[in-house]
Amino acid sequence: MSQQDTQTSTVSVVPPGATFDIRRTTPEDAEWMRQVLRRYWASEQTVSRGTVKEPLKLPGFAAMRDDEPIGLVTYEITGEACEIVTHNSMADSGGIGSCLLAAVRNEARQRGCKRLWLVTTNDNTPALRFYQRRDFDIVALHRHAITESRRLKPEIPDTGLHGIEILHEIEMSYDL
Ligand SMILES: CC(C)(COP(=O)(O)OP(=O)(O)OC[C@H]1O[C@@H](n2cnc3c(N)ncnc32)[C@H](O)[C@@H]1OP(=O)(O)O)[C@@H](O)C(=O)NCCC(=O)NCCS
Repeated sequence: MSQQDTQTSTVSVVPPGATFDIRRTTPEDAEWMRQVLRRYWASEQTVSRGTVKEPLKLPGFAAMRDDEPIGLVTYEITGEACEIVTHNSMADSGGIGSCLLAAVRNEARQRGCKRLWLVTTNDNTPALRFYQRRDFDIVALHRHAITESRRLKPEIPDTGLHGIEILHEIEMSYDL
């Protein structure tokens, strides 16, 4: 397989019968990725552990159905750690988030990573449930980290899911 094929090929993490494919993102995806980031993350930047991230510049995987994007995950590999920077399912049908997670997990393993990690916020109970059910552990609570994050990204709202005030970062980790 050529380098080009490797960059654009679909990834075999989708179960039989699924109505979508998973493939690597390419520069041609930038426009819809920008829209996803603005819609779900309020800007094209995210902040984790006090650092601004630019998901548009990061590698990622897209879930596609009939040429329409229905899911996106972006990640950043640093040394032996792979951070999930953004992870979104934009359609109701089940399994999109799990398949995107599997794609990143496989990639991180192939790249020699020992740890897959992410931060979410204290209001995001669906994410806490989703990742714990997939064997992620809560490894740290960074109290009032979002106060600092708001200095870097003023678009972070005061209130999040379920009307819960967004205050803290919760760090979750999966040993590869
Ligand atoms: C977290 C997130 C990406 C998960 O994506 P998702 O597409 O809902 O995930 P899945 O469909 O794979 O899994 C959700 C549930 O559907 C179930 N499911 C999977 N395949 C299914 C199928 N074919 N039919 C019905 N249900 C199915 C899963 O078992 C899972 O339930 P469980 O958690 O009780 O095991 C999504 O909730 C999201 O976009 N959240 C907002 C952004 C966010 O918070 N991101 C995380 C921090 S970066």
